[in-house]
Parts: sequence; structure tokens; C-alpha cells
Amino acid sequence: MSKFVCQQCGYESVGFLGKCPNCGEWNSLVEMVEETNRRKTKSNRKSNNISSIKPISLSSISSRKTSRLSTKIPELDRVLGGGLVSGQVVLIAGEPGIGKSTLLLEVSEKLGKNVLYVCGEESASQIKVRAERLGIKKTGISLLEDTNADNVIDVISELNDLSAVIIDSIQTMYTGDLSGMAGSVGQVRECTARLLRVCKEKEIPLFLVGHVTKEGTVAGPAVLAHIVDTVLWFEGDKTLTLRLLRAVKNRFGPTDEVGIFDMQDKGLVSVNDTEHMFVKTGLPANRRVPGSIVTSILQGTRPLLVEIQALVVPTKMAFPKRVAQGIDSRRLELLLAVLIRRCGLPLYDYDVFVNCAGGMKITEPGADLAIILAIASAYYDLPANATHNALQAGKPSNIIAIGEVGLLGEIREVMAQEKRMKEARRLGFTQIISSKEYHFVGEVIKKLLK
Ligand code: TYD
Ligand code: MG
Repeated sequence: MSKFVCQQCGYESVGFLGKCPNCGEWNSLVEMVEETNRRKTKSNRKSNNISSIKPISLSSISSRKTSRLSTKIPELDRVLGGGLVSGQVVLIAGEPGIGKSTLLLEVSEKLGKNVLYVCGEESASQIKVRAERLGIKKTGISLLEDTNADNVIDVISELNDLSAVIIDSIQTMYTGDLSGMAGSVGQVRECTARLLRVCKEKEIPLFLVGHVTKEGTVAGPAVLAHIVDTVLWFEGDKTLTLRLLRAVKNRFGPTDEVGIFDMQDKGLVSVNDTEHMFVKTGLPANRRVPGSIVTSILQGTRPLLVEIQALVVPTKMAFPKRVAQGIDSRRLELLLAVLIRRCGLPLYDYDVFVNCAGGMKITEPGADLAIILAIASAYYDLPANATHNALQAGKPSNIIAIGEVGLLGEIREVMAQEKRMKEARRLGFTQIISSKEYHFVGEVIKKLLK
């Protein structure tokens, strides 16, 4: 009989019941490995033999051990904090089909020699098809089609000079010591712990692919996040090509970095020149259309320029429509209320559509001013810089709006405003609208659109 432990109250029971007999919590029982006699005697012997366990001095550890190994994928290195640390365990989590296997196959190629790729989800020949698509020909990648974690550990122990181990995915791994199904919390936790132990001992970086449940958490919930060194979240809209890699937890680097990739026919491409990614209107540079404003949002420590587009049309319904893409719809409602009350725009009679071009999702208030200006520009049917002197002289200046908008209609300073403005100037935006020159939204609208 297997032994279960309740994660809520710590009650130990034999056999799976679904509900804890002690505290009554459902699904809180997690299967534990029963200590065999062999293990018990081994650990007893170890604990008695104190002379073999000694603390080591921090200064005696050579810095070579902490030097970083570059993955040669610039955006991945950026998120990892400069590269892999030996023995680092990285969990890459994301929805199915987002590109986790593609990213890790590219990592295996770039790392060069001796990478062990454990394919629990696909057959070796399916991996081969993907490798061909990615243009990977001669590499040191070895494929292992096995889902038994103990077999994989034996293989890792036998192989020397491995530069990385990749487990695709941890939910397919199981150990015979537990009776639960592969993918259950107990199995995921135990397999991760065992793989982690062998890789830490041999100082090999370990990548784990983790699936995301419907609720948006890594299956085998917080359990995995606690065990591993780094959790990277791979996300994006599957219908678009933009993919973001975010560090959610990182023991060896920052957690506010974001890696940006473009999913192309031949795999994931690191995007360095982000300015061309989100601000390409497809229009000639000197054409200005109503309803479009560029803003700067902060992704990690990087300011990114994105274009906000708006469309305002008279409504035929009793309730006007408000449609937001890439922008929180409640934030849009709030900004519309500011426009109606503080700037006198009768938007209660109009449907409003707002879109953040390029598939980026805005989660910070730094884009408020741009959203408001895009809507006002669409309402007046005037490009934002229509009355600007430079435009009349035939040379339109590039406008960018950065700022949070409060309920009083005031423009507030945003985080890292100087950094965003510097980046905007570098990319040729000559007119920056922010809390520096204007105090209220009404003033900006008057100046630019009336
Ligand atoms: P995959 O890496 O299999 O996703 P995951 O492991 O996260 O489930 O990627 C699957 C998607 O990526 C699939 O819809 C096809 C697309 N893709 C490309 O667009 N270009 C490519 O070069 C590859 C290999 C995949
Ligand atoms: Mg996959």
C-alpha cells in the first residue's frame, strides 16, 4: 500500500482516499516514497559518520564554478541573467504549442557538444523532423526515448562530459517507486527531485519543460517552482508570431527581464531591434492617420515602443460597445470616463475600439496617455500632430506619448520615465508628450487636436 501525506494538515494515511480523513480537505493527499530498509540504514550510517560531513568556507570555492555558460541565444541569456550556471535547473513553462520544444532544441544545438534530450512526448523521429525544419544538421544531441526517470538518471550518471540535459516534459516522467500516474503531483515532484540531485552532483545544467494547467499554473503547482532554480514563463498569442520569455523566479539573476522572440518558419529568432517589431504601420513615414499614437512601455528593464490604435464610430445600440485588444478593458472604461467628464467628449454615443498593435499586452498605466490621445484623435478624425507647425511646413515630427492618467484628468509621471524618453529620442521621436510639459489631458488635446 502506498503512503499519502496531507499537504494541509500533515496527516499520514495509507491508500488514496481523495479526501483527507483528518481535516476533510479534498485532493490534498500527496503520495510519498516509503523508506526502504536499505535507505534507512544508509542514512543512519551517514548521520553517524559525522567526520565525512564538513562545511566548506565560502572563499575557498573557486569562481570558475560560478562562471556562466552562454546559450548563444541572446534573448535567453538576457532572461537567465547572462547565461547558465553549472548545475542550474531551469523550468520552462507554457501552454501547449507555444514553442517550448522548439526553443530547447535550438538551445541543444547552440550548446554544441553532448546534450542529452529526453523526449517523453514525441518520438525521436518527430524530433528529427523538427530539427530538419530548424536547419539543424550535425550536432552532438543524443535523443533518449524513455519516460522512466530512474532509467534517465542511470544514463546521465554513465555519460561523461554532458553539457546539458533536457527533459521534455517533466509531466511524462514517472518513477516505479510511486504508484501514481505520470503527471500527478507526487510523481512530478519526486522525478524532479531525483533528476535535480544527479544533475547538481555532476554540475550539468538541467532544463525541464512544464505544462500549464487550464488555471494557468504549472501542473504540480508551486511544488516545482520551489525545487528548481529558475522558472521561465513562455507566453504569447498563438495566432501571432510574437513570443515572450519571462523570468518568474531566478536564483541566479533578475526576475524582471523579458526575452522577445519571433516564431518564424525556421524556428524562434531573437528580436533585438524591438523598434521595428511593434511600430510598423505599413504607411509612408510622412503620412499621418487619425487614431494612432506611439507610446513606450516597460518590459523588464527595457522600454519598448508600441503603437496604440483607436477607432470611434457612432453607436446604433442602446449600449455603446467598448472593445480592447492588448489593453485591460476596465482600464479602457476608466479612461473613457475621464475623456467624457474631464474633456467633454460625448463618447457615450460612440462605439470605441482600441488595439495595441503587434500582439503586445499592456499591463502598466504608462500607456494611458497614448490610449486617451488615440481615442481623441479618432473622435476628432485628426492625426495627433495635424496642427503642429512642423507638419504645416511639410515635415511632420514624430509624436510619442508617455504618462499615466489619473481620475482628475491629470498626467502623472511613470516609472523610469527618463529612460523611456531617452530611448524614444534615440529612435527619432522629436516630440515627447509627458507630465513634463503638460499637467492635464485636456491641455494636450487642445494643443494637438483642436
Ligand atoms: P512546439 O515547440 O512543439 O511547442 P510546445 O513544445 O510548446 O508544445 O511548437 C509548436 C508550434 O510552433 C507549432 O504550432 C508550429 C510552430 N513552429 C513554427 O512556427 N516554426 C518552427 O520552426 C517550428 C519548429 C514550429
Ligand atoms: Mg513540446
